[in-house]
Amino acid sequence: MTKDKKENSQKKDGDDKFAKLVSLCKRRGFVFPSSEIYEGFTAVYDYGPYGVELANNIKKLWWKEMTQLRDDVVGLDSAIFMSPKIWEASGHVKGFSDPLTECKKCHARLRLDTLLEDAGIFADEKMTEDEINKIFENNKDKIKCPTCGAKDFTPGKKFNLLVQSNLGNFTSDWTKEPTYLRGETCQGIYVNYKNIVDSSRVKIPFGVAQIGKAFRNEITARQFIFRTREFEQMEMQYFIKPGDDEKFFNEWKQLRYDFYLKLGFLPENLRWHQHENLVFYAKAAYDIEFNFPFGFKEMEGIHARGDYDLSQHAKFSSQDLNYLDPQTNERFVPHIVETSAGVGRIFLAALSNAYREEVNEGGEPRVVLSLKPSLAPIKVAVFPLLKNKPELVAKAREIFDILKQKWKCEFDDNGNIGKRYRRQDEIGTPYCLTIDFDTLENSEITLRDRETMEQKKFSLENLLTYLHQELD
Ligand code: GAP
Repeated sequence: MTKDKKENSQKKDGDDKFAKLVSLCKRRGFVFPSSEIYEGFTAVYDYGPYGVELANNIKKLWWKEMTQLRDDVVGLDSAIFMSPKIWEASGHVKGFSDPLTECKKCHARLRLDTLLEDAGIFADEKMTEDEINKIFENNKDKIKCPTCGAKDFTPGKKFNLLVQSNLGNFTSDWTKEPTYLRGETCQGIYVNYKNIVDSSRVKIPFGVAQIGKAFRNEITARQFIFRTREFEQMEMQYFIKPGDDEKFFNEWKQLRYDFYLKLGFLPENLRWHQHENLVFYAKAAYDIEFNFPFGFKEMEGIHARGDYDLSQHAKFSSQDLNYLDPQTNERFVPHIVETSAGVGRIFLAALSNAYREEVNEGGEPRVVLSLKPSLAPIKVAVFPLLKNKPELVAKAREIFDILKQKWKCEFDDNGNIGKRYRRQDEIGTPYCLTIDFDTLENSEITLRDRETMEQKKFSLENLLTYLHQELD
């Protein structure tokens, strides 16, 4: 096969898989387009009954890894709304923008760097407007409007991504002095740094972790939950002594990569991307990329930010944000190593990593989400063999009521057993239990394993021991 043919066939496979994932998300209640009964609301999504469980599991695992298993990282939940001065100090009001262009024929508004990328020309979203416009000029003949196919565009202009609001401003011309919905969660950490040092026992080096919503007026909303205008971030800022940047940057790089291996992500689906175009204050920036159906893309960023953040906030707030080392009496503005991940992107990566189609020996097809039990929305499904036998239903309920105290379980008495298994396979449930006449007679419960489809009989006591071993 020629290189072009191979690439086209890989692209088609990726497109097919992506369409199947999006369809599964809707059909099985993982993700719904926002405001669907009103024809939708672009680039915003709602997480359905299984989606919210998966997203919560991702957040719980991250939170445990960051705050419970380490004694040098504390948690924070800062507000979405903050003083607008914060966004001036951080540089977002002036510089948080993407290059926007307009197709002169159909007037579609498009992101210049994405247009270049689609034409196979390298463009980094962190490039300046001038850099991107120069590449655009040199490659004009290769770039087509994805909506109408025209090749005529307006020059790229900066479009600020901060989402504005009138919170606390009761005048009609509030747009002159807007407040902002936060564009990233980490600013809440920087502005609480002093409160945390003063109120807890943290000593440098230490970290602050936060999970929360962020908002960006993304120009091109594509690729489902990969790029949305409302999304959730999991960010950790590690405050260090100047000079220790490289050491901690490398340490966090490794830890964050290992986190994804622990989630069961296949090593071949992960890779590093080093940023060449760093913002002026950054010392180093790497992304952990995942092999999404549409190619390798950023899932998490690890950044060595120097003293930029605290120095800016010290300057704009006129507060002293120096750290006084209690042992050496040295005063310094801490440097920061940041780890920043998006819940939606990890969610999509987890589904893509786990999705499998297979045909069993009897020629029957099945779709399976091979999610690690820690990620699976439902850990155990409990089925009475027959819906119309009250004694089976009552026994199944009794076992369900015991298991649900410990794990997220689902009771299902609908349809034949085969169909019930397929449904649980598709949402990634590791174990299904069937309560049949043997259970009534000699207390044996049948456990069916999602991966092997093997069935084994257990007494209730042995079943609990087995589930504790496999699920906890
Ligand atoms: N504080 C640094 C920061 O926000 P970023 O690279 O802009 O860095 C970090 O974002 C992570 O947040 C990304 O790696 C991605 O997982 C997620 N993210 C960013 N923009 C997003 C969007 N529009 N939709 C979904 N996730 C997004």
